[in-house]
Amino acid sequence: MQYRKFGRTGLTVSRLIIGTGTFGKQTDEAESFRMLDRVADAGVNIIDTADIYPGGADLTEVGRAEEFTGRWLKGKRGNFIVGTKAGFPMGPLQWDRGTSRKHLMDAIDASLKRLDTDYVDLYQVHTDDTETPLEETAEALDAIVRSGKARYIGVSNFLAYRLARAIGRQDTLRLARYASAQPRYNLLFREIERDLLPLAQEENLAVIPFNPLAGGLLTGKYRQSQSPDKGRFSAEVGSFGAMYKARYWHEREFDTITRLGAIAEEIGEPLPKLAVAWILANPAVTSVILGASRTEQLADTLAAADYGLDPEVKAKLDELTVDYRRGDAGR
Ligand SMILES: NC(=O)c1ccc[n+]([C@@H]2O[C@H](COP(=O)([O-])OP(=O)(O)OC[C@H]3O[C@@H](n4cnc5c(N)ncnc54)[C@H](OP(=O)(O)O)[C@@H]3O)[C@@H](O)[C@H]2O)c1
Repeated sequence: MQYRKFGRTGLTVSRLIIGTGTFGKQTDEAESFRMLDRVADAGVNIIDTADIYPGGADLTEVGRAEEFTGRWLKGKRGNFIVGTKAGFPMGPLQWDRGTSRKHLMDAIDASLKRLDTDYVDLYQVHTDDTETPLEETAEALDAIVRSGKARYIGVSNFLAYRLARAIGRQDTLRLARYASAQPRYNLLFREIERDLLPLAQEENLAVIPFNPLAGGLLTGKYRQSQSPDKGRFSAEVGSFGAMYKARYWHEREFDTITRLGAIAEEIGEPLPKLAVAWILANPAVTSVILGASRTEQLADTLAAADYGLDPEVKAKLDELTVDYRRGDAGR
């Protein structure tokens, strides 16, 4: 495993992060524990969770991933960096979501309770709440850091201009500053290369992309003509299935995957390993968040951590997917 500084903080993190988005829905508690054991053995020292996981529209399931994570961490909390998030709906009320002071103050306490810990290392705004003033969110997060409930703060799913404005406001008001951004990024979705990654490099923000395999599409296991009844692109994951299909289930993406698969075959490496190694090879990226519904799925992606991607192969992958840098490919 390789390690890297987390942006301009003093933290050092593994270049692979384990995601918990499947915990409590596709992945039961025993399998979640096996997965966490497996990645810890491989040197992963950072866990990504969120209050809403594994939920979607179903509010009865939210919080399970934090609960599983908290139980696994029992007796070893100090050995891991734990990041969680708030902002997506956690209940039926209007203030059960977003980044108002009211919600964030409730949300951090609820997350700490489920995680059975006194603090999280990284507290992230899960999605941009444009209806709450930037100052209100910044002041609430600053209070959370000062109270010791979170050690660092970050964002996820932010447009670059909003993140730039938020950081500017935090600096002016001398409040705790966002240390990281968690964007969607993979060979089929490269828009962040245009604005967010340059901003992160200028500001020395940690960048921890999620969705490195485009929900599993970049394993090459799907055929466009065969709609799956299990997994990320199916009704098994509720409303997420349709969302992922709208994002990626298109002729153009399948065509690209066929061509990516040919490159992988030529050099004798599994495509998921190359897909993760390609993200890690980007100098703006700190660490990649891996996702899996079963422990065995992690073999190929964990192997990316110590794999030096040949610059010529990287150039081929870059060229083959260059269209996904442009806005018109974004769904
Ligand atoms: N901030 C955010 O808004 C946000 C959003 C999404 C995720 N995340 C975080 O990022 C993590 C990873 O994201 P992601 O789940 O979208 O990552 P991903 O790597 O794009 O997709 C992971 C999925 O691909 C399939 N897969 C992975 N390895 C495989 C293999 N070797 N063979 C076959 N199938 C394989 C599995 O789904 P199936 O078994 O269902 O096919 C797995 O759950 C999540 O757990 C979560 O912590 C954050």
